[in-house]
Amino acid sequence: MLLTLEHVSKSFGDPADPLHALQDISFQMRRGEFVCLVGPSGSGKSTLLRLIAGLLRPSSGQILLGDEPIRGPNPRVGIVFQASNLMPWRTVLDNVALPLELRGESKARRYEIARAQIALVALNGFEHHYPHQLSGGMQQRAAIARTLVQNPELMLLDEPFGALDALTREYLNQELLRIHRAENVTILMVTHAIHEAVWLADRVLVLSQRPGVLKADIPIPLPRPRTEALFTDSRYLTLVKQVRAHIDRPTVAGLSSKMP
Ligand SMILES: Nc1ncnc2c1ncn2[C@@H]1O[C@H](COP(=O)(O)OP(=O)(O)OP(=O)(O)O)[C@@H](O)[C@H]1O
Ligand SMILES: [Mg+2]
Repeated sequence: MLLTLEHVSKSFGDPADPLHALQDISFQMRRGEFVCLVGPSGSGKSTLLRLIAGLLRPSSGQILLGDEPIRGPNPRVGIVFQASNLMPWRTVLDNVALPLELRGESKARRYEIARAQIALVALNGFEHHYPHQLSGGMQQRAAIARTLVQNPELMLLDEPFGALDALTREYLNQELLRIHRAENVTILMVTHAIHEAVWLADRVLVLSQRPGVLKADIPIPLPRPRTEALFTDSRYLTLVKQVRAHIDRPTVAGLSSKMP
């Protein structure tokens, strides 16, 4: 197994009055798998990704990468946040090459690797553009390229296309599947969109409302490569319904009684 979570819990704040964000989460991921994580807002999805990236420590339980416990940020695990976090004063090429620069690679070597990843996310021709000269989707693709230059075994994506319009998202999801195939990287992706999760993933994990517990782990046995033809396929639609049934509805005082 590439990733193993064993009884992982995470609380924040005053130990006398803690906020329990995640409770007793256990699951595993195989190398090469594409897993999507869904759940209501505040269920701990981003927290779970930060724990796996080594940016936070669990309050209890453990997380293993292969046989090694995760003790901090590790180049074997790459993370792409919802906001692309590109450095505005650096060009696309210098943003993508940054992890290699931090690792002390020569300029020639880091530009060579960065250019290959820029081509992989189809941003060639934009190497010398600055982030503000790119669309939102292009910025996210640059952020993905910056993660890929580390050659991570596990890539964590936190709603990477959340802020984009539906058609751009669809296009970038297709790109992501292409990269997943080409690089054989293992992906754990957070998304709010159930139909997107089912279309992309080998498995969909569902977190409950806070404190987040793992409510369901649903295999998606749809054939690959996934195409748009699936959107109207009855097997796909049944799976979307199945995942949706596991997701807690937000409870907003005064609203639920008026809802049909
Ligand atoms: N650094 C922190 N300090 C204190 N509380 C935190 C911290 N990070 C997250 N939380 C709390 O943990 C809970 C889970 O937050 P998290 O961001 O993981 O949710 P999420 O599922 O990603 O939500 P969304 O879908 O809105 O992005 C929330 O109640 C949040 O307030
Ligand atoms: Mg989040």
